Amino acid sequence: MSNSTLVVTASAAGAQSVSRKLALELAETLGGPVTLRDVSGGLPVVDADFLGGREGASTKVSEELIAELRAHDRVILAAPMYNFGVPAALKSWIDLVARAGQTFRYTETGPEGLLTGKTGYVVVTTGGTPAAGAVDFTTPYLVHVLAFLGISGAQVVTADRMVVDANASLATARGTIRTLASHAAA
Ligand SMILES: Cc1cc2nc3c(=O)[nH]c(=O)nc-3n(C[C@H](O)[C@H](O)[C@H](O)COP(=O)(O)O)c2cc1C
Repeated sequence: MSNSTLVVTASAAGAQSVSRKLALELAETLGGPVTLRDVSGGLPVVDADFLGGREGASTKVSEELIAELRAHDRVILAAPMYNFGVPAALKSWIDLVARAGQTFRYTETGPEGLLTGKTGYVVVTTGGTPAAGAVDFTTPYLVHVLAFLGISGAQVVTADRMVVDANASLATARGTIRTLASHAAA
C-alpha cells in the first residue's frame, strides 16, 4: 500500500510559518512521499460558474484540488488561527474541494463523505487563544470538514498560545507528532 501525504498549508508567513513547519515535520515523520500544497497566495472563490457547473477558473482549480486530494492516502491540513477561524485561502480550498457527488453525497439519512480510506491530520497554531477552548473555531472546524468528506477521526497537533511560551508549545506539538508517528507505524 502506498503511503503518500498531501500537506495543505495556508499561513501568510511562508517558510517561517510554524504551522507549515510542524505539518512538514509530521509528514516526514510519518514517512512516504509528500506533496506540499501551499494555498496562502489565495484561491478562486466560489462563483456563479462553479455553482452552475460551468467551466471557469474556480471549477478548473476545484477539479485539480479534488484530483490531488484523491491521489493521496493521508491529508494534513495546517492552519494558523486567524481571527478564531481559518485563513480565508484555506476556506476557499475547503469550498472548492467539498463538492456534492464528488467528495460527498446527500443520502436520506444525511450527507455522506466519499473520500473514505484516508487518514486525516490537523495542525493548528495560535498566538494567545487556547486550543480546544470556547473560541477555538479552527480545530473543531477542520476536524469536522475532514469527517464530512469521509476522513473521520482526524488526529490533531496543536502549538497554541505561541506568544506565551513558544518553546513549551513547540515541545508539546513535537511530542504529539512522535506519538502519532509511532501509532501510525504500529
Ligand atoms: C490575521 C491574523 C489573525 C490572527 N488571529 C488570531 C486569533 O484569533 N487568535 C490567536 O490566538 N492568534 C491569532 N493570530 C496569531 C497566529 O495564529 C499565530 O501567530 C500563529 O502562531 C501563526 O502561525 P504560523 O507561524 O503558521 O503563521 C493571528 C495572526 C494573524 C496574522
